[in-house]
Amino acid sequence: MSSIRPEIRRVTTHTLHEMKMKGEKISMLTAYDYSMATILDGSGIDVLLVGDSASNVMAGHETTLPITLDQMIYHGASVVRGIKRSLVVVDMPFGSYQGNSSEALRSAIRIMKETGAHAVKMEGGSEIKESISRILSAGVPVMGHLGLTPQSIYKFGTYTVRAKEDAEAQKLLEDAQILQDCGCFSIVLEKIPSALAKKVCENLSIPVIGIGAGPDVDGQVLVTHDLLGITNQFKPRFLRKYADLHTIITDAVCHYVEDVKQNSFPTQKEAY
Ligand code: KIV
Repeated sequence: MSSIRPEIRRVTTHTLHEMKMKGEKISMLTAYDYSMATILDGSGIDVLLVGDSASNVMAGHETTLPITLDQMIYHGASVVRGIKRSLVVVDMPFGSYQGNSSEALRSAIRIMKETGAHAVKMEGGSEIKESISRILSAGVPVMGHLGLTPQSIYKFGTYTVRAKEDAEAQKLLEDAQILQDCGCFSIVLEKIPSALAKKVCENLSIPVIGIGAGPDVDGQVLVTHDLLGITNQFKPRFLRKYADLHTIITDAVCHYVEDVKQNSFPTQKEAY
């Protein structure tokens, strides 16, 4: 089963804009490697995000802070080699763009040159406006990210829902407008009240993709390893698990171990 629409040969930032105009929802998932990217792309995913969640999911770190630009480039290039149709967005990792706009531009250019990806994603609003503008002026499409921005976890203190209070909600609305005015092609909203996400989505003409931001946005993103049930400890309310690969893989590997121990693998048919 695949949900590929044959009329869309390549998803571009322009395609996403058209989807918003037509009211067609945008599907987005994370990918960090070639094999998974091939499967997701072949299943009709519109956008593949090489998220800095690779820091947690692939490297086992507690936060997204430790992942480096070189490591993001390795993941990005692996994903790009696996796709034919999806738009590939690479997260700019913590420390690669917050210093100043020249450093931000250098980091974005390295990502685009060395991965072959189509866009970058950056966390933050007015504070990083100058860097976003500089990257955009070099012709690199930028996706914004507001709400719960995991690179600022030590400022927030917890991973709870953001912008429940009026002041933070107002800043988020203003930041969303700033990101659109700067020229961002899309924005991710993470873990904020649905009513606020709806308002942002109505205010903006660029697509708004939510994770834990309710149904009234232009698209949804999840971490693939969570959706497939490979990670089995992470159970936020917003996560819908579509498979239990943790159990499936564990059962398969237990079966293999048993076969090896009992010398029932390989058989003569599986040997040369
Ligand atoms: O890194 C990531 O996976 C993300 C998504 C949660 C949006 O930024």
